[in-house]
Amino acid sequence: MSAAANTFEHVKAVILSVHKNTSSKDKIDFYNTWAENYDQDVAVLDYRAPSLAAKSISSHFSGDRERAVVLDVACGTGMVAKQLKGLGFGTFVGIDGSESMLELARRSGLYQDLKQCMLGDEPLPVQWGTFDVVVIVGALSVGQVPVKVVRELCKATKPGGHVCMTTRSNLDNVEYKKALDQELKKMEEEGIWSCVEVVNVDNWERAVSEQEDGYISGTVYAYKKL
Ligand SMILES: C[S@@+](CC[C@H](N)C(=O)[O-])C[C@H]1O[C@@H](n2cnc3c(N)ncnc32)[C@H](O)[C@@H]1O
Repeated sequence: MSAAANTFEHVKAVILSVHKNTSSKDKIDFYNTWAENYDQDVAVLDYRAPSLAAKSISSHFSGDRERAVVLDVACGTGMVAKQLKGLGFGTFVGIDGSESMLELARRSGLYQDLKQCMLGDEPLPVQWGTFDVVVIVGALSVGQVPVKVVRELCKATKPGGHVCMTTRSNLDNVEYKKALDQELKKMEEEGIWSCVEVVNVDNWERAVSEQEDGYISGTVYAYKKL
């Protein structure tokens, strides 16, 4: 077996270990232990969601990037802010449930402010209607951030501002994605926001479940608050 295959098997085992845990607190405990190795491990999985989301935001945003205030929800170690910084955005506020992930984000030096919050249990700790861009990457999925939180993401956004979200389309996330799609559509029908684009991506990241091989697919959603 090659060194690369060993590395992939190791990362797969690390991620599969979390499926034994069920509560959201267990999930956050898992991220607390994973934080230091997170960036290098997701590189092994070809995790491209942060760059795909950043490209989507960049292609639809027409304001002053340096002055735009970006709320990075479930910011983790700061991969999304790093991508957006490379595309000219300058001001970031990050939120996450894991203190260890937040510590890595703090060390990145990219964020003006970082706050701990258990999304779904506690309200988003921000003032409504104040962000030019709200982004959530890698966290809207089964066992992580509940679908109902997307309404708070929209409330945090300025009128005319953008909300970018991602989710996975693989087997264990089918029901979650269905509920997410229904909620996003319902909010559009209520006149809260309009859909800018939905991009389905085949090679989202390498599969780690026992039932799947190769790459799983995923989706980037871009909405504009009305
Ligand atoms: C896969 S990581 C994604 C991090 C970053 N957005 C990225 O793309 O690299 C998921 C993040 O969501 C956070 N998270 C998961 N469920 C959460 C919840 N209910 N409340 C707050 N944070 C949560 C985890 O702590 C973790 O940092």
